[in-house]
Amino acid sequence: MYKAPKGTRDLLKPNISVWQHFEQTARDVAQNLYNYSEIRTPVFEETEVFARGVGDDTDVVQKEMYTFKDKGNRSITLKPEGTAGVVRAYIENSLFNEAAPAKLYYFITGYRYERPQMGRYREFRQFGCEMFGSESSTADAEMITMLSQLIKKLNLKDVALEINSIGCGECRPVYLKKLKDYYAALPKCGTCETRIEKNPMRLLDCKVAACKSHTEAAPKPLDHLCEDCSAHFASVKSLLDLCRVEYKINPLIVRGLDYYNRTVFEVISNDLGAQTALGGGGRYDKLVEVMGGKPTPALGFALGVDRIVMLLQKQGETVAEHKIDLYIAGMSEQALLKSIEICNSLRAQNISCEVDLIGRSLKSQMKYASKIGVKNVLIIGDDELNSGIAKLKNMNTSTEVEVKLNASDIALLVV
Ligand code: HAM
Repeated sequence: MYKAPKGTRDLLKPNISVWQHFEQTARDVAQNLYNYSEIRTPVFEETEVFARGVGDDTDVVQKEMYTFKDKGNRSITLKPEGTAGVVRAYIENSLFNEAAPAKLYYFITGYRYERPQMGRYREFRQFGCEMFGSESSTADAEMITMLSQLIKKLNLKDVALEINSIGCGECRPVYLKKLKDYYAALPKCGTCETRIEKNPMRLLDCKVAACKSHTEAAPKPLDHLCEDCSAHFASVKSLLDLCRVEYKINPLIVRGLDYYNRTVFEVISNDLGAQTALGGGGRYDKLVEVMGGKPTPALGFALGVDRIVMLLQKQGETVAEHKIDLYIAGMSEQALLKSIEICNSLRAQNISCEVDLIGRSLKSQMKYASKIGVKNVLIIGDDELNSGIAKLKNMNTSTEVEVKLNASDIALLVV
């Protein structure tokens, strides 16, 4: 028997209704309340889009990408995240000519060659939002507020929203020098030995115990912001307070991808074993330029939908399954034809309806109807065909009423 490849899985009922509930809620918030419009970009891009966009020295690009040569000898990569592709699309489609800020949201399937474990897959799904064209702190605050509102609407419990600022091209070099000096003489894990040269800020979120013990005393980006970054962060915080968003400052958030500056944030759950990031994001004011566009400030976030769905299920959030309004059981060939005709008219009136498609006996049709949990059953045999009247049974109350065998009369009784 074939199995889904390691780190991938099938999503199906009954849990699929929780996925749909998330998707509907996220779309409602982003599109209807905050005026984001949906963007769908290709599942794969030229490898360079991610190498440049995400950053050559990140774990994602170095170790985790699904990269291959296509038959035209081009290097292709399956999306490991959504931002780089959206930035490429923003530039290619000249979205900078449209009303600013451009607000875009997406649902993507992402691919990272990681060690699969709880909440970590090689194929996973994200819901993301990106905004282009505003460097104002009001944009940061609106985005974080939207995220907080979505979490509330989903009724996710024990979730923390943590924010930080990692400065800009102006203040960061001075800070990084201080950070490197601090770590130079300290013992580090093998990965951090490399990171100290290529990506020193990542030392602050190393999970290895020996490295973790140095983080408390390590210099933090937040204490080394230039005046502008400091004012920007102060304004983001006061706007979040104005909107009554609950957040925590976590000076250790540095994010795993290279493109961030200034505000960064994460959504953390303690309810999925160890601390788990449900999502994260931040500003990336240089990325559009790095990818060949005009300098354009931007920011965004992505939520890991696999993890959110897992948490919703763990917290007992249930979504009522859609129930079929009517099952029509036909007891003869003629009755089946009548069932199909009525069923067809009812569906045209937006009433959900099912008939036998397998040639089952009445007994097995009734078993099937109760298994799928229909609201009503109508049984048609030759007597009913002759009299033009049949019995409609309400499966909740077990009461029966007589009804004329035509779609409009039945419609009045089944919804
Ligand atoms: P990220 O932090 O790499 O950011 O991913 C965002 C979320 O996707 C994570 O917090 C996690 O919930 C989920 N995720 C990532 N990898 C996996 C995996 N292997 N299995 C399951 N879930 C996973 C980004 O991707 C940025 N593009 C976010 C962003 C948008 N920044 C600005 N705009």
